[in-house]
Amino acid sequence: MTQINQHWNLARSPAAGWPTDGDFAFNESPLPDPKEGQALVKTIYLSLDPYQWGRRRSGVETVGEVCHGRTVSQVIKTRHPTFREGDIIFNTNGWQKWGLVGQGISEFNYMHPRVIDPELAPISTAIGVLGMLGLTAYAGLYVQCQPKRGDTVVVSAASGGVGQNVVQIARLKGCRVIGIAGSDDKCAYVKQVLGADDCINRKAEHFETLLAEACPEGIDIYFENVGGAVFQAVLPLLNPSSRISLCGLISQYGHDDAASNHARWQQAGADVFAQQSVTVHGLFVGNFVDDYQEQFLEEMGAWVASGQIQYREDRWQGLEKAPVAFSAMLKGDNFGKTMVQVEEDPTVY
Ligand SMILES: NC(=O)c1ccc[n+]([C@@H]2O[C@H](COP(=O)([O-])OP(=O)(O)OC[C@H]3O[C@@H](n4cnc5c(N)ncnc54)[C@H](OP(=O)(O)O)[C@@H]3O)[C@@H](O)[C@H]2O)c1
Repeated sequence: MTQINQHWNLARSPAAGWPTDGDFAFNESPLPDPKEGQALVKTIYLSLDPYQWGRRRSGVETVGEVCHGRTVSQVIKTRHPTFREGDIIFNTNGWQKWGLVGQGISEFNYMHPRVIDPELAPISTAIGVLGMLGLTAYAGLYVQCQPKRGDTVVVSAASGGVGQNVVQIARLKGCRVIGIAGSDDKCAYVKQVLGADDCINRKAEHFETLLAEACPEGIDIYFENVGGAVFQAVLPLLNPSSRISLCGLISQYGHDDAASNHARWQQAGADVFAQQSVTVHGLFVGNFVDDYQEQFLEEMGAWVASGQIQYREDRWQGLEKAPVAFSAMLKGDNFGKTMVQVEEDPTVY
């Protein structure tokens, strides 16, 4: 067993903009020893998510702390009441090779550690399609916007971690689905693999016109992942009584804090929202865990097992790559759900 833990710590309070080299420091420390009620776990997959930048920018994550991140891990040594040696678990180990579960509130962060059954699906799905990202899509589209057969649903960042699930759930619900993504390759994937009726490249010349042409009967549901210019193009196409799930505004995360981003977004849409009686649902996945996680895992698990829902992962190899993979994702250079494979997956032979 390696006797040294390796981890990325937040090196300074990040300035406005996107992450830079000096924001993170790669450190080593002795392996933690589990106390009664705890287990020592080894990280296998680390999830990289846009919200982590918000935590760092806003000071929720403090300088010197191991960077926060949800993980799939294996239990190596245990004094925990539930977790057995060898169990594969979902937990929040952070950007490090080793960690402890059973430490209390710091590991909760809206999603409790739980054992994963490798027989049901590849274990990496616990931080993707069958994890927080899948639940976000399910909660925002299905629970909040209540899609009806024939509705036109538009999804931004459609090939990404959340977006790819929204596209496919909407399709399974009988909707007409239009994706928006940042390259022709991504758009081809959204149409050919995820089954969207169309997908528009947000960087294309005349993007607004192309989007309008793809939505001749207007938009009934908009799943908002990005904000900015994409949102401006969606606004004039919203139908009376349309619904929006305000999931995220990634185009703004380098500029300002989340609260003012949301306020500016509401202000930019205010006239259209009033004229068209648009319902805007603010989305925070943490609010759906207690009531919907079980139902979600059952329904989504069945769709994944039957192949009705596909998923694409953007995997980086080695913990050292975490900062560069994180920056790439924030800038839109990812293709699928971004994660780092930290150790070999013991369930893959
Ligand atoms: N509300 C919640 O509880 C909750 C939970 C999870 C995630 N989220 C939000 O959901 C959104 C998607 O997260 P994810 O983890 O699935 O990430 P992701 O979609 O896998 O990756 C981010 C994507 O955002 C797009 N993007 C980046 N910069 C952009 C820009 N300037 N303009 C337009 N698009 C840009 C890129 O897609 P293209 O290049 O293809 O456009 C990029 O691939 C984020 O806004 C995130 O904060 C919210």
